[in-house]
Amino acid sequence: MGLFSSSMRDKHERNYSDKELFKRYAKRLKPFKKNIVLIASFMIVQAIAAVIAPLLAGFVTDEMTSSNPRFVWVILAAVGFLILYLFNWGAFSMQQAQSGKYVPFFLEDLRLELFSKLQEQDMTFFDEHMSGKLNSIVVNDTLDFSNTAILISNTVGSLVISLGTLGFLFYFNYILALITLAAIPVLFILMYTLRNLAKRVSKSYREAIGSVNSAMVEAIEGIQISKSFGQEISIASQFEDINENYFRSWMRLTATTHFWRPLLNTVASVILCLVLYFGINMGITAGTLVIFVLYLESFFSPVMQLARFFPELSAGMAAFERCLSIVDSNPLVQQKPDAQPIEEIKGKIQFENVNFWYDQDNVIFKDLNLTIHKGEKLAIVGHTGAGKTSLVSLLSRYYEYQGGDILIDGQSIRSYTLESYRKQLGKVEQDVYLFPGTIKENILYGRENASDEDIWRVLEIVQASDFVHRLPNGLDTKVGDRGSDLSVGQRQLISFARAILLDPKVLILDEATSSVDAYTEAMIQEALEKILEERTAIIVAHRLSTIVNADRIIVMEDGDVVEEGTHEELLAQKGKYASLYNQYFVHQSLEWQEQTIS
Ligand code: CTP
Ligand code: MG
Repeated sequence: MGLFSSSMRDKHERNYSDKELFKRYAKRLKPFKKNIVLIASFMIVQAIAAVIAPLLAGFVTDEMTSSNPRFVWVILAAVGFLILYLFNWGAFSMQQAQSGKYVPFFLEDLRLELFSKLQEQDMTFFDEHMSGKLNSIVVNDTLDFSNTAILISNTVGSLVISLGTLGFLFYFNYILALITLAAIPVLFILMYTLRNLAKRVSKSYREAIGSVNSAMVEAIEGIQISKSFGQEISIASQFEDINENYFRSWMRLTATTHFWRPLLNTVASVILCLVLYFGINMGITAGTLVIFVLYLESFFSPVMQLARFFPELSAGMAAFERCLSIVDSNPLVQQKPDAQPIEEIKGKIQFENVNFWYDQDNVIFKDLNLTIHKGEKLAIVGHTGAGKTSLVSLLSRYYEYQGGDILIDGQSIRSYTLESYRKQLGKVEQDVYLFPGTIKENILYGRENASDEDIWRVLEIVQASDFVHRLPNGLDTKVGDRGSDLSVGQRQLISFARAILLDPKVLILDEATSSVDAYTEAMIQEALEKILEERTAIIVAHRLSTIVNADRIIVMEDGDVVEEGTHEELLAQKGKYASLYNQYFVHQSLEWQEQTIS
């Protein structure tokens, strides 16, 4: 185990048949039909040039070796030869330009699709997929897959040229053509034996790139932990291993690819010698020999390209499969086809026999029942892991529940469109996240049209106006991608302000002020009283001051509501709440402080 464990393993299993993969591939290529047709036509031009040019060279040779060369024809043929090569060059450049025109779009389309698919996913998906791996799919795999488009078009072009020249070889001299063909089984045997090696090597190369990528993401995400535990050196050495692995697989790939060339060149040279030997013995003309020599070259060089085709294609298809694993994963939290946008909620919330688990072996809620009245301020307390965050996550539709139902104003929350529903809830999460941007942009996140006055008003409510005023750039202060430059408490206040600005009918505060000092929190409490009038509020809290003012407190234990009532009622019961109170909260009470001090 290590920080990079996700990059070390590859749980990827084949889920798609070759046929399905190619069908889906073809579908993706459809919008680029025009480019593909153009590429094919440019290839045909090249193939024609490749078969005609040697004929002209042969003609010139025969003329020049004859006793009475016709110079006019020789010059004409030479000019024709030149023109053909110009055509060939032009067609080749235009083919490349066409590839350059559509492959980036193909890549962009795929990346966009993956990105929006990722946005659609619910939290279960992100619990299951490491961000490093996802990053590697969106960055590397899409590129590997898109490159197969170039690979395929080049290979098809090569095949056309190879087959074209082979046809002409037969036309000129079938014995010499058969000698050339003798190379094919040798090439196939070579290709076959090396195929698996090449496949393995290229797979491990691509995995190694993915690992470097994942390792980087994970190392940056976990940088604070590695620092606090003094693990930087060990992390760096783990990264060194991953990097070395990448280097080694790259070397292996290069060695394997280059191993081919001399072998193929040897085969080609042997064939060439045989053709020359038999050709001369057969007494064919010098011109025909020249034609053969040139054809042999245009026959063998595409064959060399074919050698790379299968390993690269299969690597590209494996990358495509990983992309499809994102494209095809449907979030569990789905909007029903007949879902209606929610206009405005009043705020009554009911959990009815709700069953829920993150994974089947660990049931979090079993027949959970809870009603929160319109305008009620409900506090939830309970030990760590009791299910408080899970409860509000279900209400926010981050996860799908497996049984029972959750109703708002008597209607299932599943009957609303996700976007309209989530917008009705103001939420301060336990893990505060601020987007890279200014404080203002972060506060405006849910309500872009709010004015600066509105922003300052909510900042005042959450007691953050003073500190924002003191910042050199005020509201325009940039915060980093982890909300750096601000303390954790300050970040909480900004996210609190963001939630209040939404003016939601339901406000969910999950440890919203856990990192703010007691004084600031008490001030927020005071301001909140006013804000929370007319609103339903669910407040998960570890602080006494937040809890005592609630209309009702529920105590959660192992995913169940075990006690409920007001602070006084629950204390009088001398049950779970009383013991929680004595463990955590009593020190925060005024009575306790007065007693201890006096
Ligand atoms: N859990 C899980 N997968 C998650 C989140 C939580 O399996 N993505 C499990 C936890 O292991 C825990 C249970 O769900 O056993 C309840 O977690 P949670 O609702 O987050 O507990 P809280 O009461 O919010 O705990 P805390 O006070 O620590 O925030
Ligand atoms: Mg929690």
